[in-house]
Amino acid sequence: MKISPSILTCDFSRLAEEIAFVERAGADMVHLDVMDGVFVPNLSFGPPVIERIRPLTKLPFDVHLMMQYPDRLVDAFAKAGADILNIHLECASPIGETLARCRALGMTPAVTLKPGTPAQAAFPYLDMVGLVLVMTVEPGFGGQKFMADMLPKIQALRAEIDRRGLAVEVEVDGGINPETAALTASAGATVAVVGSALFNAADPGALARQVQACGKGNR
Ligand code: DX5
Ligand code: ZN
Repeated sequence: MKISPSILTCDFSRLAEEIAFVERAGADMVHLDVMDGVFVPNLSFGPPVIERIRPLTKLPFDVHLMMQYPDRLVDAFAKAGADILNIHLECASPIGETLARCRALGMTPAVTLKPGTPAQAAFPYLDMVGLVLVMTVEPGFGGQKFMADMLPKIQALRAEIDRRGLAVEVEVDGGINPETAALTASAGATVAVVGSALFNAADPGALARQVQACGKGNR
């Protein structure tokens, strides 16, 4: 599995050091949680912050837009240096058009599903995306408990992606640690977002390697 550390629970007064920390731990990409205070009951950061941290690492930026109208800022996120742009299926922007704009701007388009949204809702977009992000907690806050009832959704997405012969990653986000990462890898996930578990780990490098070893030989 690839590991995409979420910096949502980091110390924002030391952002540059925290990026260096996840890079040292062995991150494959960096997960950036953008919240607008409308789509989710919390606010975080946006394009100006992403633009400032872009020169600090070569790792791809996996940007998760918890926004009601992501289409209004797609160009700004491309300019700020986003590599993967995750749009929620439950948002109020036109999904197909927004994904096409992401692709035209050179980013990898991705769709994200809240826990209440069925796998089938993503099926019409699988040909347009490079990644599907399955929320394994209600979006809005780090440090929540993994929802094991999302495992059948991961399996359904993986089955449909493989049936259609597509090269689409399945990413999981929320309450991921080495144990829950292993469950999601067995269900077909290939990228794990890890927030609080990594920042609280006694040995972050060892934790990252445990997550990265998940699913090997199993898929
Ligand atoms: C939740 C965010 C997650 C979160 C993950 O809305 O999308 O990326 O920061 O944090 P943990 O790993 O602590 O659940
Ligand atoms: Zn996220």
